Amino acid sequence: MKPTTSPKTYRVKSFGCQMNVYDGERMAEMLGEQGIVPAPEGEDADLVVLNTCHIREKAAEKVYSDIGRLTKGKTQTKAPMIAVAGCVAQAEGEEIMRRSPAVSMVVGPQAYHRLPEMLEKAVKGERATDTDMPAIAKFAALPERRRTNPASFLTVQEGCDKFCTYCVVPYTRGAEISRPYADLVTEAKKLVDAGAKEITLLGQNVSAWSGEDGKGHQVGLAGLIRDLAKVDGLARIRYTTSHPADMDDDLIAAHGEIDKLMPFLHLPVQAGSDRVLKAMNRSHTAESYLKLLDRFRAARPDLALSGDFIVGFPGETDVEFEETLALVDEVKYAQAFSFKYSPRPGTPAATMDGQVAKDVMDERLRRLQDALNRDQLAFNEASVGRTCEVLVERKGKHPGQWLGKSPWLQSVWFEGDAQIGDLVEVELVEAGPNSLAGTLRETALSAA
Ligand code: 5AD
Ligand code: SF4
Repeated sequence: MKPTTSPKTYRVKSFGCQMNVYDGERMAEMLGEQGIVPAPEGEDADLVVLNTCHIREKAAEKVYSDIGRLTKGKTQTKAPMIAVAGCVAQAEGEEIMRRSPAVSMVVGPQAYHRLPEMLEKAVKGERATDTDMPAIAKFAALPERRRTNPASFLTVQEGCDKFCTYCVVPYTRGAEISRPYADLVTEAKKLVDAGAKEITLLGQNVSAWSGEDGKGHQVGLAGLIRDLAKVDGLARIRYTTSHPADMDDDLIAAHGEIDKLMPFLHLPVQAGSDRVLKAMNRSHTAESYLKLLDRFRAARPDLALSGDFIVGFPGETDVEFEETLALVDEVKYAQAFSFKYSPRPGTPAATMDGQVAKDVMDERLRRLQDALNRDQLAFNEASVGRTCEVLVERKGKHPGQWLGKSPWLQSVWFEGDAQIGDLVEVELVEAGPNSLAGTLRETALSAA
């Protein structure tokens, strides 16, 4: 590659999960520290970071087509500098470097704190790959939080030791690590100073977080949430994603005791058949999952439930799929994510017998989503008449319209005198499948 001028503008394109959104923000902050500014809307950026996801589908192909789009018809001096980050970078970094001469940097999800050094090399015309996994060192090397949204993310835990047989995450994000308690309290306070009213604690297996609190006690996620709830100006706390095996009594109790902990739980089940769950290496049964939910609901009766599902796992029969539908009927999720099984290279399930035909998967996904959509609408309809706090996150489509989230993570829109970051009282008056319309009751209730 030829030496080039230092980029002046950047754009970070994040795909996939909320942790990628968090990582994307942190990369943007680092580039900001280098004096590089976000490219104005509609204008080409000098540096494009593709922050990729490898969890499903043809992730790598998507990266190559994005690279093609960025470089098509452009000379080397006009084309942007390209960095590929995220889980595809981790899994297929060398291959990307080999296939795409237009890529200057490949950086894994645990190494992006080294972007500035890589950038320095790239400007000199040297290509750089970094897929090391020094997760804790990464956080220590990142700049302070200065800018954020009313609803912000905070990564508290990374990596996963569960090795579900379909999942690539233990390979791309590495082993479970918990960030230190003190660092998290500090980052949460910085986020609040920068305008956050709500913080969602993130981790691939967030309920496995553990650490030593300020008094030298070993605490779990519930202990961390209890202490974060004492941060002035922070109004709401959420966490995601949890594994049923790591939900302890303390966390269940926290849902009944901590007002700031929102009444929402995302707890993936994946399937309703015990045979399939075993083949997935999930370590729970349908019954143990349902019992766990009962305990959460006993602690917090208005808890909204969310889950993840995979249809068409290798060997899944029609009867086994029906068991997933039966579980859905029983739980009545407020919302959920559902996917067709996608073989991930290097995972045990990818080479299992009994891969399910595409048309069978399509049909199962359609039936599952019909059931989940029905329950989501029913949950929203049951909320009509409630008055609740809404955190205003952005402007709506029409002038004077605002969009925010209810405590149960429903999207709510309303009209009236408000601004982004306000917590307002809204009466929910009309329900749709994906959002509710509300009427503003009182403004800036607790815009701390
Ligand atoms: N195929 C389909 N869905 C998957 N997920 C993870 N790996 C796969 C795969 N190989 C889904 C799971 C998980 C969510 C984040 O993505 O449901 O909970
Ligand atoms: Fe993947 Fe979640 Fe299973 Fe970990 S617990 S292996 S992240 S599906």
